[in-house]
Amino acid sequence: MLNIPSNLLNRLKNHRQDHILEGWDKLTAKERQEFADQLARIDFGELETLFSHRLEPEYVLPSRDRIQPIPVAAPDATPSERATGEEAFRRGEIAGLVVAGGQGSRLGFDKPKGMFPIGPVSGVSLFQIHAEKLLGLSRRYSKPIPFLVMTSPATDADTRAYFAEQRFFGLNPADVIFFQQGTMPAVCASTGRLLLEKPGQLFLSPNGHGGTLTALAESGVLKELRSRGIKHIYYFQVDNPLVKLCDPGFIGRHVGGKSEASSKVVFKEKPEEKVGVLAVLDGKCGIIEYTFLPKEMAGERQADGTLRYRAGNPAIHLFSVEFLERVTSAEGLPYHVAHKAVTHFDPISQVVVTPAGNPNALKFERFIFDALPLAERWLAVETSRDEEFSPVKNATGSDSPATSKAAQIALHTRWLARAGVSTHGHPLEISPLFALDEDELKAKIPKGLTIAGPTYLR
Ligand code: UD1
Repeated sequence: MLNIPSNLLNRLKNHRQDHILEGWDKLTAKERQEFADQLARIDFGELETLFSHRLEPEYVLPSRDRIQPIPVAAPDATPSERATGEEAFRRGEIAGLVVAGGQGSRLGFDKPKGMFPIGPVSGVSLFQIHAEKLLGLSRRYSKPIPFLVMTSPATDADTRAYFAEQRFFGLNPADVIFFQQGTMPAVCASTGRLLLEKPGQLFLSPNGHGGTLTALAESGVLKELRSRGIKHIYYFQVDNPLVKLCDPGFIGRHVGGKSEASSKVVFKEKPEEKVGVLAVLDGKCGIIEYTFLPKEMAGERQADGTLRYRAGNPAIHLFSVEFLERVTSAEGLPYHVAHKAVTHFDPISQVVVTPAGNPNALKFERFIFDALPLAERWLAVETSRDEEFSPVKNATGSDSPATSKAAQIALHTRWLARAGVSTHGHPLEISPLFALDEDELKAKIPKGLTIAGPTYLR
């Protein structure tokens, strides 16, 4: 092998990863440079530690006496709590953050998931709905609300191009801040050796939405937010068009209670629902992911028939900037190991290897909710699924475009009905720029409005 910088070769040899350099001679000078840069960013010590723990159970639930159901505050905020939240908006202390590193592959959509058309009448995208909510709020409170968009290498270029093409949906481009989450290399499940996607390119995957925190700090965005006077970040997932963005009541309770991390909760009705569950673990707020919640715990019921562990996680959190600064200056969140089947390029035999279905690789991801137990003061607030949670995850069945569109129509139809107007069964969609909530709708309904067909109020 020619022209391999000796420090790179030695480093790889020391970590028994020099197999990756087979075929180096066939790369162009540019490809070699890019490959060397990729390798320079790998923390081999960390990978070795993760690999050495690969056979340990991925998650160990504390013993049952150390787990309690989480106390959940009722959904309605008091007028004074709402006023506190509104004051925070007026002082320009709030930013919204969407995690949008995922692609729409489960939906059969080959673009960033945020570009998926989800408006039931308008066909507008998830990104447009979220952006319009922030624009509506910034108009309401006469203050910019920075929109932080976390992308991944797979979604970054398309997402930026889409926002530009859509003229940032009316937002000031200076208030839309893109930052990219990090990646982790996938390794062979039996040897821990690095895998290649193609010659001269490591197999890298996004490091999970927990990567948001390190990415916020490393990209300088957290510092910029601090200099803009932002004190609280409203975190949500791109897949949920119903999210009540920057809900003043929720913000008021978070601010008034001096909470560092506050979370919305949707009550689970069925044990098998695929949402994580908030609980008190060793006296701290935490989330037991649905894949780790033992069946008997998931099915346990209280005297009134409700599930004992029912505080479902719609992935809506409010973090104080101070808390995020503290968390990101300490050791990073733990990695979770996923065993996956990965088609890769084998540098030794120089052929593409397609596994026969069994997982042949390990991928490493961080989860945002591993930050929750680090909060000294936290809060969980109930919200209603009908009003705030209808994610788009699957092409058909539950949590699909069909269920999510139906939930949007049902919500907007209820708002209009309470304002005294019937939709006569026609699909109705309300743009956040027309009304952000029921009260705004009531104030804005044109006199004599009749709904005679599918309607998009904008
Ligand atoms: C997630 C939560 C679950 C919660 C549910 C609510 C996890 C592990 N679990 O489950 O507790 O009840 O949502 O809908 O997250 N994303 C990135 N980068 C990544 C990985 C994901 O930006 O590296 C984003 C995706 O774009 C998406 C969101 O995170 O917006 C959720 O990811 P997804 O894999 O769909 O999570 P779920 O398994 O549905």
